[in-house]
Amino acid sequence: MTIGIDKIGFFTSDYYLDMVDLAAARGEDPNKYLIGIGQEQQAVIPPTQDVVTMAANAAVKILSDDDKQAIDMVIFGTETGVDNSKSAAIYVQSLLGISNTARSFEIKQACYGGTAGVQMAFDHISVHPESKVLVLAADIARYGIGTAGEVTQGDGAIAMLMSQDPQILALDNQSAFHSENIMDFWRPFYRRDAIVDGHYSTDIYIDFFNQTFNDYCAKYQRTLTDFSAMAFHLPFTKMGLKALRTVIDTDEHSQQLLKEFDYSKKYNSLVGNLYTGSLYLSLLSLLANSTMLHAGDRIGLFSYGSGAQGEFYSGTVVKAMQRQRLGHQVDQLLANRTKLSVPEYEAMYANGLPNVGGDVTFDSADDHNRFILVGRKDDQLIYQDQLA
Ligand code: HMG
Repeated sequence: MTIGIDKIGFFTSDYYLDMVDLAAARGEDPNKYLIGIGQEQQAVIPPTQDVVTMAANAAVKILSDDDKQAIDMVIFGTETGVDNSKSAAIYVQSLLGISNTARSFEIKQACYGGTAGVQMAFDHISVHPESKVLVLAADIARYGIGTAGEVTQGDGAIAMLMSQDPQILALDNQSAFHSENIMDFWRPFYRRDAIVDGHYSTDIYIDFFNQTFNDYCAKYQRTLTDFSAMAFHLPFTKMGLKALRTVIDTDEHSQQLLKEFDYSKKYNSLVGNLYTGSLYLSLLSLLANSTMLHAGDRIGLFSYGSGAQGEFYSGTVVKAMQRQRLGHQVDQLLANRTKLSVPEYEAMYANGLPNVGGDVTFDSADDHNRFILVGRKDDQLIYQDQLA
């Protein structure tokens, strides 16, 4: 029996900021953002979307009625939770009409939460082969106006249906992990924006990649040539390139890995960081855009969550030529976004649910997505299915 990712869906907000405009506003050379950081555009989120609505909007595209009945577990990885107690998973389960017999819960370890969900789903399906598990990974990356991290902001959600005999990626059940108590990036309860030790975080990321990749290779007697491509957690796309460069050479296979990396970063460079979903957007980008991957090709996946947890694992491509099917939804979503000026982005950035509590109703006239956050009443979040 093979187990892995059977379907994958993506959602991001309707607005974006161009990095050339941001560079001009911040007095930076645009090539620092475009080449040095590797980001072209950044998703900007309106108050009517949050991790619950984004995850529901991502999942609704991929789930059939039969899937909704068969799902017996909903795992939501996020570091942008909407409540200190209630999980975002329960809201999504209810919005999508997933069977009430499912287990639904949320997990957190910075950007690693999505991978924790994938591995937990793998173990669950190993024991219960008829199960289907919905793994959700959604976040809003915020560092603050005018900060060094601002160019790496973004938002988005990935929804993955995991099952036996998957159509997209069969996991090898081979992985290596490493965790350490490190203060490279964190977000205290009172803050919406993250605190980050930027350069330290990039060093730690590379260190964790090297440790887990080398452990993986030693454990399973593999070398770089066993991988047709690598997908990385991409807080900004240059980060993955820096990590990849530590293990490649100048030979032909290394050139192939660099070419595949270009495919894997395409969507991330247009969306920005989506924390838990970042690695899986990169995987989607690779599968949707690569012209070289074939069924049976092995992909290495590096997941990193600050604080810090790293994991390197692998899977094999199930079907080649998935490009049109996988890429269509993302290309359409990105093409339909509205570009914001820097002042418009700054105004939207200041918006959202007030941290102090109180009732609020958002103007949702411009949000035509299926699931929206209408506001808050009596300390309860009010979500709406606009098709209901
Ligand atoms: P900075 O200090 O402003 O940038 O912020 P810099 O001075 O280091 O320059 C960046 C790169 O641009 C350099 O290249 C420059 O040479 C180049 P590098 O040496 O790195 O290869 N550059 C230029 N290139 C071309 N033309 C030019 C030009 N000028 C400069 N004219 C920093 C960079 C990443 C520190 C900042 O954006 C930041 O703090 N970002 C947020 C933290 C982050 O993303 N860390 C990544 C690792 S941690 C992680 O992945 C976990 C995370 O996702 C959170 C979680 O787990 O929940 C963040």
